[in-house]
Amino acid sequence: MELFSGFSLKALNTFGIEATAQSYIEFEKETELVSFLKDKLSGFPDHLIIGGGSNILFVEDYLGLVIGIRTKGIAKEAENDDYVFVKAAAGEKWDHLVEYCTEKNWGGLENLSLIPGTVGAAPIQNIGAYGIEQKDCFYSLTALNKQSGIVETMFSKDCGFGYRDSIFKNHAKGKFVIISVTYKLAKHPVLNLDYGSIRQEILKEHFNLKNITIQHVRDVVIEIRKQKLPDPLFIGNAGSFFKNPTVSAELHYLLKTENPDLISFPMADGNFKLAAGWLVEHCGWKGKRIKDAGVHENQALVLVNYGLASGNEILQLAKQIQISVFEIFGVDLVMEVNVI
Ligand code: FAD
Ligand code: EPU
Repeated sequence: MELFSGFSLKALNTFGIEATAQSYIEFEKETELVSFLKDKLSGFPDHLIIGGGSNILFVEDYLGLVIGIRTKGIAKEAENDDYVFVKAAAGEKWDHLVEYCTEKNWGGLENLSLIPGTVGAAPIQNIGAYGIEQKDCFYSLTALNKQSGIVETMFSKDCGFGYRDSIFKNHAKGKFVIISVTYKLAKHPVLNLDYGSIRQEILKEHFNLKNITIQHVRDVVIEIRKQKLPDPLFIGNAGSFFKNPTVSAELHYLLKTENPDLISFPMADGNFKLAAGWLVEHCGWKGKRIKDAGVHENQALVLVNYGLASGNEILQLAKQIQISVFEIFGVDLVMEVNVI
């Protein structure tokens, strides 16, 4: 592995933001990654781990070492009558893992098809889509504890998974480098078709749900996602820029009374989750563009770089959106994307 100086990060973030890392190194071999982290990381007090760069917004050059995780490998670790335990290296592409498991008919991850990024980043914000989150199949992960230099195994109870959340975004932020993740997948898959239009889309092409497999579910999820979300290869973005906010039943009642078409979902704790895309759209932002920073025309939750936007221009746009959503609806939008 080579240590580069003044390395452009443009190709390493899906927003396509031009930013430079003071230095950059990447690892394809897990052993080399782990020994570097154990022996050399202390020489680089300022460092940033990067996977697919699909949840990062660079607002300035990075004055430290960026470490690219490119380790590969997917293997069945164990199995019993009902489950297989599949371990994947942190640098594996997430969707490659989903494709691999779906082809083997190991069920659980198929609704998370086509999410960009790496396996190692999946637990960080507990990725989710189409009715499931990675925590639903998560078994364990290995992570290097930067303080002790020890590779620890962590189970679900240790990771504090929540909606787009985990300990790795909170008190353990920056303390661990995830090396591998193991998922527990069903040998007799149970289909999860309840979210959005999945069932409806499947029934468009199939007479009934009798012989539907997880491959069908994967195919439909991929189709829906391709229609709804911009492809970073053509237009820079990092998926949803904001999280869907949770509000109290009281505030929900007020908002719903004033806006009968408000899109919201009741939660088990009595609160309500609001569709942030609806809020942003109803503040008039959908399709708006300020220079090369914009709000996607089909999905108001997705901020886009039409080409030459700087990270700061995207961030300023995000802040203006937060202000108007607060002024109009009294709701705080929290950014999902990591601003660096
Ligand atoms: P990066 O952006 O490289 O990193 C994200 C954060 O994780 C950074 O803080 C980084 O330092 C840290 N990190 C990365 N790897 C490691 C590691 N091995 N150890 C420790 N820290 C690490 N997300 C969803 O949840 N659901 C979606 O449906 C979804 N759809 C998307 C659609 C599009 C078009 C795009 C562009 C993004 C979407 N996302 C979605 C967001 C994104 O794909 C996920 O957050 C993904 O997990 C990010 O992976 P990454 O490897 O690109 O992480
Ligand atoms: N909506 C609008 N206007 C918009 C966008 C959405 O009114 O501009 C409405 C839709 O009509 C729908 C509701 O909001 O009724 C929800 O929209 P959608 O199904 O597109 O999902 P989302 O809540 O906007 C979330 C995740 C996505 C994930 C999808 C599918 C968050 C922050 N985002 O988006 O994840 O793929 O559901 O499960 O939870 C990501 O995290 O980067 C991401 C893309």
